[in-house]
Order: sequence, then structure tokens, then C-alpha cells
Amino acid sequence: MKKRMALWAVYLLIGAGIGAAYKHFSKNEALDGGVIAMSPDDKSATILKPQRSTPNESKVESSIGGEFQLVDHNGNDVTQADYDDAYKFVFFGFTYCPAVCPTELQKVTLIMDELGDDAASITPLFITVDPERDTVEQMKQYVEQFHPKLVGLTGSMEQTKAVAESFKVYASKVENEMMEEYMMDHSSYLYLMDKDNSLIAVYPATDTAMDIVADIQEREL
Ligand code: NI
Repeated sequence: MKKRMALWAVYLLIGAGIGAAYKHFSKNEALDGGVIAMSPDDKSATILKPQRSTPNESKVESSIGGEFQLVDHNGNDVTQADYDDAYKFVFFGFTYCPAVCPTELQKVTLIMDELGDDAASITPLFITVDPERDTVEQMKQYVEQFHPKLVGLTGSMEQTKAVAESFKVYASKVENEMMEEYMMDHSSYLYLMDKDNSLIAVYPATDTAMDIVADIQEREL
């Protein structure tokens, strides 16, 4: 698992440097281990191959996450400190997402169920990248479809943008005449955060629920 962490740490470093994205509903999904780099103004995507250098893990960990001010799906103002007593799964997405977000949140639900008692100390957080449509009420209805411990977090455009940036998450609105509703292109990593809010692991969407369960059991949280 250290190797996986190290590899994804490299991906994150690359991503962090250039505001990169792992687009999850793009036409470029078969990436064979690469990462799509895409700036919001530039629609041309570049595939970056992982670097072979050894990442400075502590540097990476300290650069992911941070303070935030958001509103939970019950309408309570919350900050990072409200989740200090828990390990956290953190996933970014939007409730209008047609496929990847529901799939990933189902996966989180399955992981929590499979972990059983081991999940008692884990709080899953779903943070919207689409606060325009993801109101408190919308988030509430949405998270209720998944694990009972899942917390939906929304906020102002500035607040949600700030938290996404602190996790190096790429998110961008996609609109065209063919679509009734706009879409959000966004990263689809699942982060596992420690009680002190440092990063423990980053799981790509390609990891199965069982891969993640096995990894967490190995870590003995
Ligand atoms: Ni999504």
C-alpha cells in the first residue's frame, strides 16, 4: 500500500503543480495510468506519465486538505474541527452527476458496511463542487440515498471552491446546447484523512470497494 500511496502522491504533486484534473466523464477515460492535465480555460488535455522520482510524502500530506467553512445537509455551519474526532472519507462531486458520483458513493456505502465495527470511527464526507444547484435541501435528499453516516457539505461558491482547491480537486462547469442541464467535470479521488486531518491515502475510482476495505483493515485504524 505504501507503493500505491507513493504513486498517487506523485500524481497529486503533478496535479497540484498545474491544476490538473482526472476527468471522470470525459471522452479520455482510458488513460492507462496517466493523469489528464487540463486548465479551466484550455480544453486540450495532456496525458502526463508518472514521474520516477521519490515523492516527499510528508510534503504531499501537508498540502492536501485544510480548514474549511461549509454547511452540512442539516443546515449546520461546520468547519474541519467538527470532524476532528473521526477518520474521514472525503469525496467531491455533485448531486446531478449521472454516473460516477452515485457509483462512488455506493462504493463508500459498501466499504462502510463491509468494515462493520471498523467503520465506527470513520465519517464519510461528500463535498459538492456545484453549490449553485446543491442546496442544503438537495444535499439532504441526496445523501439519504447512501450510508446513514454520509454527510453532505455545501456552501457558497467561494467556500466550496476553496475546499476543492485545498484538496487539489479540479472542477469545471461544462455546458452545451445539446444538454438540458450543465455538467461538472471533476476529479474523482476518494481521500482517507486521519483524525488530525492529515492525508492517509488517496484511492482512485478504479479501486474497488474490496481493495479499499483490505487496505483499511491492513492499516488497523
Ligand atoms: Ni461526479
